[in-house]
Amino acid sequence: MAPMTRSRAANDGNVPNDMMVTYYTQRAGAGLIITEGSQISKQGVGYVNTPGIYSAAQVEGWKKITKAVHDEGGKIFIQLWHVGRMSHPDFHNGELPVAPSAINPNDKSYTPQGFKDTVTPRALTIPEIQDIVQDFRNAAKNAMEAGFDGIEIHASNGYLLHQFFVSTANTRTDEYGGSKENRARILFEILDAIKEVMPEERIGVRLNPSLHDAFGITLNEDTIPTYDYIIEKLNNYKLAYLHLSEPFTDVSNVPHAESQIAKRYRPIYKGNIIINAGFTQEKGNNVIEEGNADMVAFGSLYIGNPDLAERFEQGAELQQADKNTFYTPGPEGYIDYPSLVEVEERA
Ligand SMILES: Cc1cc2nc3c(=O)[nH]c(=O)nc-3n(C[C@H](O)[C@H](O)[C@H](O)COP(=O)(O)O)c2cc1C
Repeated sequence: MAPMTRSRAANDGNVPNDMMVTYYTQRAGAGLIITEGSQISKQGVGYVNTPGIYSAAQVEGWKKITKAVHDEGGKIFIQLWHVGRMSHPDFHNGELPVAPSAINPNDKSYTPQGFKDTVTPRALTIPEIQDIVQDFRNAAKNAMEAGFDGIEIHASNGYLLHQFFVSTANTRTDEYGGSKENRARILFEILDAIKEVMPEERIGVRLNPSLHDAFGITLNEDTIPTYDYIIEKLNNYKLAYLHLSEPFTDVSNVPHAESQIAKRYRPIYKGNIIINAGFTQEKGNNVIEEGNADMVAFGSLYIGNPDLAERFEQGAELQQADKNTFYTPGPEGYIDYPSLVEVEERA
Protein backbone atom coordinates (compact mmCIF):
# COMPACT_ATOMS: atom_id res chain seq x y z
CA MET A 1 0.00 0.00 0.00
CA ALA A 2 1.50 3.32 -1.12
CA PRO A 3 1.79 6.23 1.31
CA MET A 4 -1.33 8.40 1.34
CA THR A 5 -2.08 11.52 3.31
CA ARG A 6 -5.60 11.27 4.70
CA SER A 7 -5.59 14.20 7.16
CA ARG A 8 -7.49 12.49 9.96
CA ALA A 9 -5.14 13.41 12.85
CA ALA A 10 -7.44 16.33 13.65
CA ASN A 11 -6.23 17.23 17.13
CA ASP A 12 -3.89 19.83 18.58
CA GLY A 13 -0.86 17.56 18.81
CA ASN A 14 -1.42 15.81 15.43
CA VAL A 15 -1.55 12.52 17.32
CA PRO A 16 -2.62 9.33 15.48
CA ASN A 17 -6.06 8.31 16.77
CA ASP A 18 -8.37 5.31 17.00
CA MET A 19 -9.94 6.00 13.62
CA MET A 20 -6.49 5.66 12.09
CA VAL A 21 -6.00 2.35 13.95
CA THR A 22 -9.15 1.05 12.24
CA TYR A 23 -8.09 2.38 8.82
CA TYR A 24 -4.67 0.75 8.85
CA THR A 25 -5.92 -2.50 10.42
CA GLN A 26 -8.51 -2.83 7.65
CA ARG A 27 -5.63 -2.65 5.15
CA ALA A 28 -3.20 -5.04 6.88
CA GLY A 29 -3.68 -7.57 4.05
CA ALA A 30 -1.52 -5.33 1.84
CA GLY A 31 1.56 -7.19 3.07
CA LEU A 32 3.49 -3.97 3.48
CA ILE A 33 1.76 -0.72 4.36
CA ILE A 34 3.68 2.51 3.95
CA THR A 35 1.89 5.10 6.07
CA GLU A 36 0.87 8.57 5.06
CA GLY A 37 3.62 11.19 5.15
CA SER A 38 4.27 12.04 8.81
CA GLN A 39 6.08 15.23 9.69
CA ILE A 40 9.43 14.83 11.44
CA SER A 41 9.07 18.18 13.23
CA LYS A 42 6.66 21.06 13.66
CA GLN A 43 8.62 22.84 10.94
CA GLY A 44 8.03 19.92 8.53
CA VAL A 45 4.24 20.19 8.42
CA GLY A 46 2.42 21.57 5.40
CA TYR A 47 -1.04 20.06 5.32
CA VAL A 48 -3.88 20.23 7.78
CA ASN A 49 -4.38 17.35 10.26
CA THR A 50 -1.44 15.19 9.18
CA PRO A 51 0.14 13.06 11.93
CA GLY A 52 3.63 13.67 13.26
CA ILE A 53 6.37 11.41 14.59
CA TYR A 54 8.30 13.85 16.77
CA SER A 55 6.37 13.95 20.09
CA ALA A 56 5.94 11.33 22.83
CA ALA A 57 2.15 11.46 22.40
CA GLN A 58 2.51 10.77 18.67
CA VAL A 59 4.74 7.76 19.39
CA GLU A 60 2.09 6.41 21.78
CA GLY A 61 -0.61 6.90 19.13
CA TRP A 62 1.42 5.09 16.45
CA LYS A 63 2.12 2.18 18.86
CA LYS A 64 -1.56 1.25 18.75
CA ILE A 65 -1.46 1.22 14.94
CA THR A 66 1.70 -0.88 14.57
CA LYS A 67 0.41 -3.38 17.13
CA ALA A 68 -2.97 -3.72 15.43
CA VAL A 69 -1.39 -4.20 11.98
CA HIS A 70 1.09 -6.75 13.37
CA ASP A 71 -1.74 -8.63 15.09
CA GLU A 72 -3.33 -9.01 11.63
CA GLY A 73 -0.06 -10.31 10.18
CA GLY A 74 0.88 -7.15 8.29
CA LYS A 75 4.08 -5.10 8.13
CA ILE A 76 4.14 -1.32 8.35
CA PHE A 77 6.73 1.35 7.51
CA ILE A 78 6.20 5.02 8.34
CA GLN A 79 6.92 7.69 5.75
CA LEU A 80 9.09 10.49 7.17
CA TRP A 81 8.18 13.86 5.73
CA HIS A 82 9.32 17.48 5.64
CA VAL A 83 7.40 19.56 3.11
CA GLY A 84 9.83 22.49 2.93
CA ARG A 85 8.47 25.30 0.76
CA MET A 86 5.10 23.55 0.20
CA SER A 87 4.11 24.73 3.67
CA HIS A 88 2.47 28.05 4.57
CA PRO A 89 2.98 30.76 7.22
CA ASP A 90 -0.42 29.76 8.68
CA PHE A 91 1.25 26.64 10.08
CA HIS A 92 4.14 28.60 11.62
CA ASN A 93 2.58 31.55 13.48
CA GLY A 94 3.10 33.73 10.43
CA GLU A 95 6.78 32.79 9.94
CA LEU A 96 7.95 31.76 6.48
CA PRO A 97 8.33 28.09 5.52
CA VAL A 98 11.90 26.95 4.86
CA ALA A 99 13.53 25.64 1.68
CA PRO A 100 16.94 25.24 0.03
CA SER A 101 16.45 28.64 -1.64
CA ALA A 102 13.99 31.53 -1.46
CA ILE A 103 12.01 30.44 -4.53
CA ASN A 104 8.22 30.25 -4.52
CA PRO A 105 6.88 26.95 -5.91
CA ASN A 106 3.82 28.89 -7.13
CA ASP A 107 1.47 26.16 -6.04
CA LYS A 108 -1.23 25.79 -3.38
CA SER A 109 -0.86 24.86 0.25
CA TYR A 110 -3.66 23.04 2.07
CA THR A 111 -4.05 25.07 5.27
CA PRO A 112 -6.61 24.93 8.09
CA GLN A 113 -8.48 27.67 6.17
CA GLY A 114 -8.47 25.74 2.88
CA PHE A 115 -6.16 26.03 -0.14
CA LYS A 116 -3.95 29.12 -0.17
CA ASP A 117 -1.22 30.30 -2.54
CA THR A 118 2.27 29.26 -1.49
CA VAL A 119 4.71 32.02 -0.54
CA THR A 120 8.38 32.70 -1.16
CA PRO A 121 10.11 30.61 1.52
CA ARG A 122 13.20 31.47 3.55
CA ALA A 123 16.49 29.78 2.57
CA LEU A 124 17.86 27.44 5.23
CA THR A 125 21.22 28.16 6.85
CA ILE A 126 23.75 25.33 7.04
CA PRO A 127 23.20 24.79 10.79
CA GLU A 128 19.46 24.59 10.12
CA ILE A 129 20.06 21.93 7.45
CA GLN A 130 22.06 19.95 10.01
CA ASP A 131 19.15 20.31 12.45
CA ILE A 132 16.78 18.84 9.86
CA VAL A 133 19.14 15.88 9.38
CA GLN A 134 18.94 15.32 13.14
CA ASP A 135 15.13 15.67 13.04
CA PHE A 136 15.00 12.82 10.51
CA ARG A 137 17.26 10.77 12.79
CA ASN A 138 15.05 11.44 15.83
CA ALA A 139 11.92 10.63 13.86
CA ALA A 140 13.47 7.29 12.79
CA LYS A 141 14.34 6.56 16.41
CA ASN A 142 10.77 7.38 17.44
CA ALA A 143 9.48 5.13 14.67
CA MET A 144 11.46 2.20 16.07
CA GLU A 145 10.08 2.93 19.53
CA ALA A 146 6.56 3.04 18.08
CA GLY A 147 7.01 -0.49 16.73
CA PHE A 148 7.32 0.20 13.00
CA ASP A 149 9.03 -2.42 10.83
CA GLY A 150 10.89 0.36 9.08
CA ILE A 151 10.81 3.88 7.72
CA GLU A 152 10.56 5.44 4.27
CA ILE A 153 12.35 8.70 3.58
CA HIS A 154 10.03 10.90 1.54
CA ALA A 155 12.41 12.33 -1.04
CA SER A 156 9.80 12.80 -3.74
CA ASN A 157 6.74 14.73 -4.89
CA GLY A 158 8.23 18.20 -4.61
CA TYR A 159 8.84 18.20 -0.84
CA LEU A 160 11.98 19.34 0.96
CA LEU A 161 14.46 16.72 -0.25
CA HIS A 162 13.15 16.87 -3.80
CA GLN A 163 13.54 20.68 -3.59
CA PHE A 164 17.22 20.19 -2.81
CA PHE A 165 17.68 17.84 -5.81
CA VAL A 166 16.29 20.14 -8.51
CA SER A 167 18.35 23.05 -9.76
CA THR A 168 15.25 25.20 -10.37
CA ALA A 169 14.39 25.09 -6.64
CA ASN A 170 17.93 24.95 -5.29
CA THR A 171 20.25 27.77 -6.35
CA ARG A 172 22.54 27.55 -3.32
CA THR A 173 26.22 28.19 -3.81
CA ASP A 174 27.43 26.28 -0.73
CA GLU A 175 27.99 22.52 -0.36
CA TYR A 176 24.23 21.88 -0.65
CA GLY A 177 23.80 23.47 -4.09
CA GLY A 178 25.39 23.63 -7.53
CA SER A 179 26.68 20.18 -8.57
CA LYS A 180 24.45 17.10 -8.48
CA GLU A 181 26.60 15.74 -5.66
CA ASN A 182 25.89 18.87 -3.62
CA ARG A 183 22.16 18.94 -4.39
CA ALA A 184 21.84 15.30 -3.31
CA ARG A 185 24.05 15.67 -0.22
CA ILE A 186 21.24 16.09 2.32
CA LEU A 187 19.69 12.72 1.42
CA PHE A 188 22.92 10.86 2.09
CA GLU A 189 23.52 12.79 5.31
CA ILE A 190 20.05 11.76 6.44
CA LEU A 191 20.70 8.12 5.51
CA ASP A 192 24.00 8.14 7.41
CA ALA A 193 22.31 9.70 10.46
CA ILE A 194 19.37 7.27 10.42
CA LYS A 195 21.73 4.30 10.07
CA GLU A 196 23.03 5.16 13.52
CA VAL A 197 19.64 4.46 15.12
CA MET A 198 18.23 1.56 13.09
CA PRO A 199 19.35 -1.19 10.71
CA GLU A 200 19.89 -0.11 7.11
CA GLU A 201 17.74 -3.05 5.97
CA ARG A 202 14.71 -1.29 7.45
CA ILE A 203 15.13 1.96 5.55
CA GLY A 204 13.35 2.75 2.29
CA VAL A 205 13.76 5.78 0.04
CA ARG A 206 11.06 7.24 -2.20
CA LEU A 207 11.91 9.15 -5.40
CA ASN A 208 9.79 10.57 -8.22
CA PRO A 209 12.40 11.41 -10.89
CA SER A 210 10.04 12.50 -13.68
CA LEU A 211 7.65 14.66 -11.67
CA HIS A 212 6.89 17.62 -13.93
CA ASP A 213 4.72 20.71 -13.67
CA ALA A 214 3.42 19.62 -10.28
CA PHE A 215 4.29 20.57 -6.70
CA GLY A 216 6.47 23.36 -8.07
CA ILE A 217 8.82 20.96 -9.90
CA THR A 218 9.86 21.15 -13.54
CA LEU A 219 12.30 18.94 -15.40
CA ASN A 220 15.49 20.34 -16.88
CA GLU A 221 18.85 19.17 -18.23
CA ASP A 222 20.10 18.42 -14.72
CA THR A 223 17.26 16.04 -13.83
CA ILE A 224 18.34 12.72 -15.34
CA PRO A 225 22.05 13.04 -14.42
CA THR A 226 21.02 13.90 -10.84
CA TYR A 227 18.76 10.86 -10.45
CA ASP A 228 21.26 8.56 -12.17
CA TYR A 229 23.82 9.73 -9.62
CA ILE A 230 21.48 9.37 -6.60
CA ILE A 231 20.23 5.91 -7.54
CA GLU A 232 23.71 4.61 -8.35
CA LYS A 233 24.95 5.91 -5.00
CA LEU A 234 22.05 4.28 -3.13
CA ASN A 235 23.75 0.98 -4.04
CA ASN A 236 26.23 1.80 -1.28
CA TYR A 237 23.43 1.25 1.26
CA LYS A 238 21.69 -2.06 2.01
CA LEU A 239 18.22 -0.54 1.96
CA ALA A 240 14.93 -2.36 2.41
CA TYR A 241 13.91 -0.92 -0.94
CA LEU A 242 13.96 1.96 -3.36
CA HIS A 243 10.41 3.17 -4.01
CA LEU A 244 10.11 4.76 -7.46
CA SER A 245 7.18 6.47 -9.13
CA GLU A 246 6.52 6.33 -12.83
CA PRO A 247 5.74 9.85 -14.14
CA PHE A 248 2.51 11.22 -12.64
CA THR A 249 1.70 12.87 -16.00
CA ASP A 250 2.49 12.12 -19.63
CA VAL A 251 6.05 13.38 -20.14
CA SER A 252 6.75 11.60 -23.42
CA ASN A 253 7.05 14.94 -25.24
CA VAL A 254 8.73 16.87 -22.42
CA PRO A 255 12.43 17.61 -22.95
CA HIS A 256 14.80 16.02 -20.41
CA ALA A 257 12.17 13.51 -19.24
CA GLU A 258 12.63 9.80 -18.66
CA SER A 259 9.21 8.33 -19.30
CA GLN A 260 10.04 4.75 -18.25
CA ILE A 261 11.35 4.88 -14.74
CA ALA A 262 11.34 1.17 -13.79
CA LYS A 263 13.03 0.24 -17.07
CA ARG A 264 15.74 2.85 -16.71
CA TYR A 265 16.56 2.21 -13.07
CA ARG A 266 16.22 -1.59 -12.83
CA PRO A 267 19.67 -2.17 -14.37
CA ILE A 268 21.22 0.59 -12.24
CA TYR A 269 19.81 -0.22 -8.79
CA LYS A 270 20.94 -3.52 -7.27
CA GLY A 271 18.45 -3.79 -4.38
CA ASN A 272 14.66 -4.17 -4.20
CA ILE A 273 12.59 -1.80 -6.29
CA ILE A 274 8.99 -0.92 -5.45
CA ILE A 275 7.27 0.65 -8.42
CA ASN A 276 4.16 2.81 -8.21
CA ALA A 277 1.72 5.10 -9.90
CA GLY A 278 -1.20 4.08 -12.05
CA PHE A 279 -0.84 0.32 -11.62
CA THR A 280 -3.71 -2.13 -11.98
CA GLN A 281 -3.44 -5.80 -11.06
CA GLU A 282 -2.60 -6.66 -14.68
CA LYS A 283 -0.03 -3.92 -15.13
CA GLY A 284 1.49 -4.85 -11.78
CA ASN A 285 1.85 -8.49 -12.75
CA ASN A 286 3.42 -7.43 -16.05
CA VAL A 287 6.08 -5.22 -14.49
CA ILE A 288 7.06 -8.02 -12.10
CA GLU A 289 7.15 -10.61 -14.89
CA GLU A 290 9.26 -8.32 -17.06
CA GLY A 291 11.71 -8.14 -14.17
CA ASN A 292 11.60 -4.34 -13.92
CA ALA A 293 10.47 -4.23 -10.28
CA ASP A 294 10.27 -6.48 -7.23
CA MET A 295 7.08 -5.06 -5.71
CA VAL A 296 4.21 -2.81 -6.75
CA ALA A 297 2.67 -0.17 -4.47
CA PHE A 298 -1.02 0.60 -4.96
CA GLY A 299 -2.29 3.95 -3.74
CA SER A 300 -5.77 5.17 -4.61
CA LEU A 301 -7.11 1.62 -5.15
CA TYR A 302 -6.45 1.02 -1.45
CA ILE A 303 -8.69 3.90 -0.42
CA GLY A 304 -11.88 2.27 -1.68
CA ASN A 305 -10.72 -1.33 -1.27
CA PRO A 306 -9.34 -2.10 2.18
CA ASP A 307 -8.93 -5.75 1.13
CA LEU A 308 -7.41 -4.98 -2.29
CA ALA A 309 -5.01 -7.96 -2.24
CA GLU A 310 -7.86 -10.37 -1.47
CA ARG A 311 -9.96 -8.80 -4.21
CA PHE A 312 -7.10 -9.24 -6.70
CA GLU A 313 -6.69 -12.85 -5.60
CA GLN A 314 -10.38 -13.61 -6.10
CA GLY A 315 -10.82 -11.53 -9.24
CA ALA A 316 -13.51 -9.59 -7.35
CA GLU A 317 -14.97 -6.28 -8.38
CA LEU A 318 -13.26 -3.13 -7.12
CA GLN A 319 -15.05 -0.33 -5.27
CA GLN A 320 -14.72 3.25 -6.46
CA ALA A 321 -13.26 5.72 -3.94
CA ASP A 322 -14.86 9.12 -3.43
CA LYS A 323 -12.29 11.88 -4.06
CA ASN A 324 -14.37 14.37 -2.05
CA THR A 325 -13.52 12.58 1.20
CA PHE A 326 -9.80 11.92 0.60
CA TYR A 327 -8.78 14.61 3.11
CA THR A 328 -11.94 15.48 5.05
CA PRO A 329 -12.15 14.94 8.81
CA GLY A 330 -14.22 12.08 10.18
CA PRO A 331 -14.87 8.44 9.30
CA GLU A 332 -16.79 9.06 6.09
CA GLY A 333 -14.83 7.89 3.04
CA TYR A 334 -12.11 6.71 5.39
CA ILE A 335 -13.09 3.60 7.34
CA ASP A 336 -16.51 2.89 5.83
CA TYR A 337 -15.50 1.07 2.62
CA PRO A 338 -16.55 -2.54 3.20
CA SER A 339 -14.37 -5.59 2.62
CA LEU A 340 -15.70 -8.47 0.52
CA VAL A 341 -16.56 -10.34 3.72
CA GLU A 342 -18.54 -7.38 5.01
CA VAL A 343 -20.35 -7.01 1.69
CA GLU A 344 -21.41 -10.67 1.88
CA GLU A 345 -22.48 -10.33 5.50
CA ARG A 346 -24.70 -7.38 4.58
CA ALA A 347 -26.31 -9.17 1.61
C1 LIG B 1 -5.11 10.86 -1.24
C2 LIG B 1 -3.67 10.70 -1.60
C3 LIG B 1 -2.68 11.08 -0.71
C4 LIG B 1 -1.33 10.89 -1.01
N1 LIG B 1 -0.38 11.20 -0.07
C5 LIG B 1 0.91 10.85 -0.28
C6 LIG B 1 1.87 10.95 0.76
O1 LIG B 1 1.59 11.33 1.91
N2 LIG B 1 3.15 10.60 0.47
C7 LIG B 1 3.52 10.16 -0.78
O2 LIG B 1 4.69 9.87 -1.00
N3 LIG B 1 2.62 10.04 -1.77
C8 LIG B 1 1.33 10.34 -1.55
N4 LIG B 1 0.39 10.13 -2.53
C9 LIG B 1 0.81 9.52 -3.81
C10 LIG B 1 0.59 8.00 -3.76
O3 LIG B 1 1.52 7.38 -2.87
C11 LIG B 1 0.79 7.40 -5.15
O4 LIG B 1 2.08 7.73 -5.60
C12 LIG B 1 -0.23 7.89 -6.16
O5 LIG B 1 -1.55 7.79 -5.63
C13 LIG B 1 -0.17 7.11 -7.46
O6 LIG B 1 -0.38 5.73 -7.23
P1 LIG B 1 -1.82 5.06 -7.58
O7 LIG B 1 -2.03 5.27 -9.04
O8 LIG B 1 -1.69 3.60 -7.21
O9 LIG B 1 -2.85 5.77 -6.78
C14 LIG B 1 -0.96 10.34 -2.27
C15 LIG B 1 -1.96 10.00 -3.18
C16 LIG B 1 -3.30 10.14 -2.86
C17 LIG B 1 -4.34 9.69 -3.85
